[in-house]
Amino acid sequence: MTRVPLPEPDGVHVRPYEPADAAATLETFTLAITRTALARYTAEQVQAWIGTPPSLGAWDEARRAVRTFVAELDGRVAGFSDVDDRGYVDRLFVHPAAARRGVAGALLDRVLAEARRAGLATLTTHASLVAEPVFARHGFEVVARETVHRGDVSLDRCEMRRVLHSATRLTH
Ligand SMILES: CC(C)(COP(=O)(O)OP(=O)(O)OC[C@H]1O[C@@H](n2cnc3c(N)ncnc32)[C@H](O)[C@@H]1OP(=O)(O)O)[C@@H](O)C(=O)NCCC(=O)NCCS
Repeated sequence: MTRVPLPEPDGVHVRPYEPADAAATLETFTLAITRTALARYTAEQVQAWIGTPPSLGAWDEARRAVRTFVAELDGRVAGFSDVDDRGYVDRLFVHPAAARRGVAGALLDRVLAEARRAGLATLTTHASLVAEPVFARHGFEVVARETVHRGDVSLDRCEMRRVLHSATRLTH
């Protein structure tokens, strides 16, 4: 069966992560938290969230340990997301310079397509308050609201779940 590629916003192209993306995705992660997430968290909270910067090697290894996708906007890395074999979406980060242009949406479309292809029944994530509306627009529902602690600092986030297909019940 021929797969029809999903439409992506103008100029956005989503592709698998490559080791050469390590520096650009780490920068995206850092700036997305220290700039964009400031909309919903304090400066103290974003510092606690970001923690100790990883080495580029450790960062690259972590990205390659799961299926990571990179979004390019006009040929430059604009964001990334991932999904593991159990359907957990750990990361969704978009560079502030590319915000609100549908980059996260395009990444989630790709994650959803890959999850379906892998036969996963559900996707789960822990969404920040900034990302919650984006996940919600992609069919994720809030399972629980929680507060996590990083040292003395607490951060609100929510556990969300997207059911991809439910088990078929046969009735006779
Ligand atoms: C959440 C995030 C990935 C969305 O990326 P994006 O490409 O801008 O998202 P889309 O263009 O697909 O959707 C835009 C929505 O994102 C959210 N958003 C994006 N930028 C935002 C900002 N500066 N302030 C508040 N909300 C913002 C809003 O819900 C926005 O919808 P709206 O424009 O109708 O208000 C991005 O804002 C980000 O990296 N945030 C900081 C890190 C973070 O919280 N990551 C998620 C960890 S679970």
